[in-house]
Amino acid sequence: MATLTRTTSGFTVRNMTLLLFCISLSCLPVYSSASRNDRPIIGVLAQEVYSPKPDQTVYIAASYVKYLESAGARVVPVMINQTLEEYKALFSSINGILYPGGGVSIISSGYEKTAKIFYELAIEANKKGDYFPVWGTCLGFEQLTYLTSGKTILTHTNTSGVPLPLNFTDETKDSRMFKGFPAELMKDLASQPLTENSHKWSLAVQTYDTNEELKKFYKILSTNMDGKIEFVSTVEAYDYPIYGTQWHPEKNAFEWTRPYIPHSPSAVKTTFYMAEFFVSEARKNSHRFESEEDESKALIYNYNPVYTGPKSGFEQIYYF
Ligand SMILES: *[C@@H]1O[C@H](CO)[C@@H](O)[C@H](O)[C@H]1NC(C)=O
Ligand SMILES: *[C@@H]1O[C@H](CO)[C@@H](O)[C@H](O)[C@H]1NC(C)=O
Ligand SMILES: *[C@@H]1O[C@H](CO)[C@@H](O)[C@H](O)[C@H]1NC(C)=O
Repeated sequence: MATLTRTTSGFTVRNMTLLLFCISLSCLPVYSSASRNDRPIIGVLAQEVYSPKPDQTVYIAASYVKYLESAGARVVPVMINQTLEEYKALFSSINGILYPGGGVSIISSGYEKTAKIFYELAIEANKKGDYFPVWGTCLGFEQLTYLTSGKTILTHTNTSGVPLPLNFTDETKDSRMFKGFPAELMKDLASQPLTENSHKWSLAVQTYDTNEELKKFYKILSTNMDGKIEFVSTVEAYDYPIYGTQWHPEKNAFEWTRPYIPHSPSAVKTTFYMAEFFVSEARKNSHRFESEEDESKALIYNYNPVYTGPKSGFEQIYYF
């Protein structure tokens, strides 16, 4: 926080109060509810198609779009391979970004390069009190572990296509993410397999415990076991509105092509409470497009999703 200079003398009362506040809670940018943005727009990062065709080089699964829309946000696709200037302009136009799951490299893809730029812009903005939330789901979470630690430190796990209950940590009680969840849903999340996992790589709890960068940056809200290895399944950053789940909150309500996706009432509620949380974080940001025309041109409504189920893992996909 900018006001917290580490001088040895001359702390004003205000600085002192802020310092105490920071020690007892966290150093998240101060946010005033008077400035709530009820028209949040969230960027969803595109990624390379595995077998590209001339008019299908990158994609976004439509479930991420529906997920955010279901909680009152609009979506802008964030393309790969743009210039830094274009990304900076987009960053100052949107109110948060989501890194979806998928199958590209977290160290050398266009997805990675773009994720890195927005991650760094978000850190810089949040340090200045400009509240900008970042979310990573599955591959997006794995991407965050790389961006924060600078290392590829994931462990192979047997977790391709399995719904699991969350093993919540003690940190969950004081978390921002789960604070607004009904007690009944928390009980169901802890006891029923409501969170869909489709990943071959995971952040082992043992790796987290021995990695200073990750330990300093993220608090673990839940873990899971693949039978042998205990891995991190949900995190939130201590001092930044940066969040990650190894599991897929968006699938329960919106994806049907795999038998292991849970659709029970509590599973579907999980989708909506997770979306509600992230969109409410985006409402704390006041970035906006320079004009209404720029905004309309950027929105995902300019594109049509294609029906790709039942063979694909997704019902509908936006191709670009
Ligand atoms: C992105 O840029 C890379 C490297 O310049 C290129 O190989 C790739 O085809 C581009 N992809 C898209 C989807 O524009
Ligand atoms: C992987 O996990 C599944 C249950 O999700 C289990 O049936 C299978 O035996 C496991 N495979 C290995 C190699 O441990
Ligand atoms: C839940 O986490 C605790 C603490 O890490 C661990 O001791 C326990 O074995 C875990 N339980 C399951 C079911 O994964």
